[in-house]
Amino acid sequence: MRNLLIAGGAGFIGSNFVRFMLEKYPDYHVIVYDKLTYAGNLQNLLEVDDDPRFAFVKGDICEPQAVEQAIKEHRIDTIVNFAAETHVDRSIMDPDAFIQTDVYGTYVLLEAARRLGLERYHQVSTDEVYGHVPGEHRSLESDPVAPRSPYAASKTGGDLMAVAYHVTYGVPATITRGANNVGPYQYPEKVLPVFVTNALDNLPLPVYGDGKQRRDYQYVLDHCEALDLVLHRGQAGEIYNVGTGGEMENLAMIEILLDELGKPRSLIQHVTDRPGHDRRYCLNVDKIKTLGWEPRHTHEQAIRATVRWYVANEWWWRPIKVGERYKQYYEANYAQRQVLAGT
Ligand code: NAD
Ligand code: TYD
Repeated sequence: MRNLLIAGGAGFIGSNFVRFMLEKYPDYHVIVYDKLTYAGNLQNLLEVDDDPRFAFVKGDICEPQAVEQAIKEHRIDTIVNFAAETHVDRSIMDPDAFIQTDVYGTYVLLEAARRLGLERYHQVSTDEVYGHVPGEHRSLESDPVAPRSPYAASKTGGDLMAVAYHVTYGVPATITRGANNVGPYQYPEKVLPVFVTNALDNLPLPVYGDGKQRRDYQYVLDHCEALDLVLHRGQAGEIYNVGTGGEMENLAMIEILLDELGKPRSLIQHVTDRPGHDRRYCLNVDKIKTLGWEPRHTHEQAIRATVRWYVANEWWWRPIKVGERYKQYYEANYAQRQVLAGT
């Protein structure tokens, strides 16, 4: 493994992974292949921009010829696929791009890995493929998939295709299913960056429903370490869950966020819930731990570190939030939600 194609490397997790890998492996070359959708941002990669081991290719994973050309030109031996439409609320408003990129685009990359005989294909997936997890259960990699949003269903399609390409054609594919990530450079549509940046401007935090949904907020660099480990020590054909293995209510996450900022609870505003909202995700992470991985951050450390990054990096998020494209999204997603009294 020397020449990595990082599809979707200009997004949140991908850009953190690019920095992480270039720092850790002095002899690796990292090529980011990214369409630069609203979520892709070259400013996420400023720190590696002048590294001779780094290159950027603007391209769509749904275009087979462009993918093949990038692989050949840069002598790629490994693909790590972060490229996806990633936001549940957007998938509810308009699922089309999710099906294109997360299903068809994954197929295009897998097909390239097969035809060109690559050493490894890694699919970055999500705990959302398991759907709502009732009771005390923690999802195992062997559990049936049961996605409930268009986003989760599209990601599940990508996972199943990666498994099929391994079983049918012997493509050395691995899959990780990560819990919610938090950290630097997350686009302000996911809950933590929306809420921190709203709170900094003393704007309401729109909590869906009662706010008692449960998530496992893990620090993005812990996730990157796990991805690195799976690439180097994971078995082809295997799936690995990645998260802290814990869970917390959204309201508890918000308490920590407000405490770190010194902002009042009165900013919390309960609004109409997300349709089909999964109440709980929770992962069993024993399998990835057998590879020698442990998360380094607790929920609280991950949330506080992320809040501090947004406080210190207004240059990054302020221009996004004042942009017309963002305002249109915010209006479309939030304007029709009613404020709920008495929650
Ligand atoms: P993101 O939305 O921040 O970034 C996605 C990137 O993919 C962007 O740079 C975008 O330009 C690019 N992209 C989108 N469509 C493309 C296409 N057709 N061709 C090429 N590039 C394209 O996403 P993220 O939060 O960094 O998530 C990365 C991956 O991790 C996704 O596959 C997501 O499903 C998975 N994941 C995310 C989380 C999370 O909490 N954010 C948790 C688990 C798994
Ligand atoms: P999100 O960051 O969209 O991730 P996902 O839905 O993929 O887990 O949302 C995390 C949780 O926060 C989820 O339970 C929905 C909730 N949420 C809100 O309450 N308000 C918001 O404005 C957003 C974006 C999310």
